[in-house]
Amino acid sequence: MARHNPSEGPPSRKYNIIGADIPETVLFKGDSLVSSLSGTPRVINCVYYYDDTGSILFERLCSEPTYYLFRTEKEIISQNAKAIAGITGPVSLIELGSGNAGKTTLLVDAYVKTHGPASYTAIDINHSILERAAENILSVTPDFDFLGIVGTYQTGLVQTKELTGRKLLVSFGSAIGNLYDNELCSLLLSARAALSPGDYFLVGIDLDKETEMLEAAYNNQTAILGNLCVLQHLNWRFSGNFDIFQFRHVAFHNKSLQRVEAHLEAMQAQSINLQKLNFSFQLEKGEMIRTEIMRKVDLNSFHGMFIEYGFRPVHNWTDSYKRYAVCLFQLSDKQFESEPPLAS
Ligand SMILES: C[S@@+](CC[C@H](N)C(=O)[O-])C[C@H]1O[C@@H](n2cnc3c(N)ncnc32)[C@H](O)[C@@H]1O
Repeated sequence: MARHNPSEGPPSRKYNIIGADIPETVLFKGDSLVSSLSGTPRVINCVYYYDDTGSILFERLCSEPTYYLFRTEKEIISQNAKAIAGITGPVSLIELGSGNAGKTTLLVDAYVKTHGPASYTAIDINHSILERAAENILSVTPDFDFLGIVGTYQTGLVQTKELTGRKLLVSFGSAIGNLYDNELCSLLLSARAALSPGDYFLVGIDLDKETEMLEAAYNNQTAILGNLCVLQHLNWRFSGNFDIFQFRHVAFHNKSLQRVEAHLEAMQAQSINLQKLNFSFQLEKGEMIRTEIMRKVDLNSFHGMFIEYGFRPVHNWTDSYKRYAVCLFQLSDKQFESEPPLAS
């Protein structure tokens, strides 16, 4: 696979991060933002959480006592990484939205111990976090071949097509749960296109549970700050005039849609202008902008979505309280009887 612009880590370690030159307009599509902010309700896509500040805040969120997701998933991976490596055999690992790859080091370590050195490719929209991912992975396994790809899930997956041999695609942190239905369909189509029959997809996902626990996870100080900082990101990227002190963080469990939603509520009427997008709009007092969804699934319907796209459930691992699941799927080698649903 083509590798350019090698970045050097500390003396004995080397890693490559490609895609730093990808146009920002490909990663952060201003026209989509204009369209989603013009709708009812107004929506900001969760990719805007992940500038450098947002990535640091996400790392901090993971150590908030009420944010059970991180430590629960970590426990599941640490207890079962060896079993996962045993089922798949040797693979090239590709991680979607790697973040700092903190938990992935456990998986990588199990693969090295079971099958020897291999390759790890991390895809993330944030360049800085890929550098931290490289440091984390290489601190555990200096012999691992690390490639970071700055990009969206879709643009990154296209660049992994040249990897040969059995692949294991990984998505941790319940990141798939942040995707709307059309985005999830589109991701599953891209994953299917990037993988070959027999390849694996390992997905960490939060399970539906009682409202109190869910709402506590998304209403701590770091969650509140992270949500407000989305507006600062938009100000910086698009020369906007959002005043974060005029907004209030709201996160609640939407039981019927099986998700937690994060919103920003305007505390008074205001005129918003995003100069670089040549876009203005009026917010009424009390109006909400939805900034993120966090799906809380039941395993049957979650499996159903993957099955529709040709991914066969192989095994699930959960914690003892059944709060969180890590699910292994395998791309079927059967032809589909009908075409999978198209992303709208
Ligand atoms: C919820 S965090 C999970 C991070 C890490 N996997 C973990 O479990 O701690 C989501 C990560 O995906 C990245 N991300 C979010 N949306 C993305 C997209 N559309 N394409 C590529 N990366 C994305 C973010 O920068 C962030 O690092």
